Amino acid sequence: MSSLLPGQSSMTRESVTAFSVDLVPQAPPDSHYGLRAACRADPEPNKIDLVIGAYRDDNGRPWILPAVRKAEKILYDDGDRTNEYLPIRGMPEFTSAAQRLILGPNSIAIQEGLACSVQTISGTGALHLGGLFLSKFLPRPTPPIYISSPTWDNHVRVFGNVSLPIRRYPYYLKSSNSIDFDGMMATLAAATRGSIILLQACAHNHTGLDLSGSQWLVVAQTIRSRGLLPFFDCAYQGFASGSLSQDNRAIRLFVEQGIELIIAQSFAKNLGLYGQRVGCFHFVAAPSPEAHGTVARVASQLALLQRSEISTPPIYGARIASIVLESPQLFADWEEDLRTMSGRIIDMRTALRHELEELKTPGYWNHITEQIGMFSFTGLSEEHVAELKSKWHIYMLADGRVSMAGLNWGNIKRFAHAIDDVVRRLQA
Ligand code: LMR
Repeated sequence: MSSLLPGQSSMTRESVTAFSVDLVPQAPPDSHYGLRAACRADPEPNKIDLVIGAYRDDNGRPWILPAVRKAEKILYDDGDRTNEYLPIRGMPEFTSAAQRLILGPNSIAIQEGLACSVQTISGTGALHLGGLFLSKFLPRPTPPIYISSPTWDNHVRVFGNVSLPIRRYPYYLKSSNSIDFDGMMATLAAATRGSIILLQACAHNHTGLDLSGSQWLVVAQTIRSRGLLPFFDCAYQGFASGSLSQDNRAIRLFVEQGIELIIAQSFAKNLGLYGQRVGCFHFVAAPSPEAHGTVARVASQLALLQRSEISTPPIYGARIASIVLESPQLFADWEEDLRTMSGRIIDMRTALRHELEELKTPGYWNHITEQIGMFSFTGLSEEHVAELKSKWHIYMLADGRVSMAGLNWGNIKRFAHAIDDVVRRLQA
């Protein structure tokens, strides 16, 4: 990097090297993908990969949903399809169907024209677009975004990258493996007006712990009375309980309460379209005489941001999603697929708790069946996790989060025995 090209003067060199790559430090490996790579490189045949939140069937294999396979066939057979650019805000059939799914088909926000939507690069792209929009248009000094502690660690990076001040609200009580609702509410009640509150609509990533209906109501009332802006991350609709309308109830509640809000919606998990990066950003205005003008202005600025970031969104995955969402038959097939995936995970939770209780593993394991969705926050310590990896070739995040989808009838006993072993040895 530092050598001169033939004929280049030292003057030129100085101006060229004003940016020195020597100042770029080595970044740490990603906590999820770095560990997944380590697991993949491990030659042990009985290793267990519980790192990444991606569904696996009972043979431990990725699963293409039958509804998605049918949609792919329809797309493949469609002689009229092209690979033209999509509009900047995405495929209209897709964004409308995504809106109906997340807000509910009879949503007042849709009927009254209070929502606008933009197709994004999965849920992460929607979080980023929302963060970028907020960092550009929030008043100065920029109010903070409050994120649960713990959370999906990428949340902190995504919003940090667009220079939003980040604060945390407590979410988890280690002593009882439950939600720290009092701590959460005390923090929200003290947040300055205009602060953004990031909420996970269902299947909380990292803890698997979701608020009850009455707790969501308290959160909605506090957000409204304190003048806060809720930003929902919804990556697991239908995947948590198996019911699409159960898993978006928090969002529907906020809309019914007339609260302005933002949503990042992902189709990675619920349609199994992980690598296709299918997602949608939604803004929902509070009802008011100015709401239509607000929605139009917000939509115009989102389009401008999208154009400068990715120009136009990718087409393939959005087409697949649209075919499933728009066909009554495929939609019904998909609902069945969701029940298959969520049901298998619930079975694994029951089996793991049962195994640990049969083994009389020290501690309480009821939280495993009380949590919901892709992840279990096991309560295992970093030392337990390190032992599970080195002795048993079992891989999970350092803070004890496991992807339940990595468990199946072929490896669950081994996993329970391994936990039993490390818990007993480290307490001795
Ligand atoms: C996870 O939390 O494991 C998933 O959401 C995958 C990811 O990108 O981190």
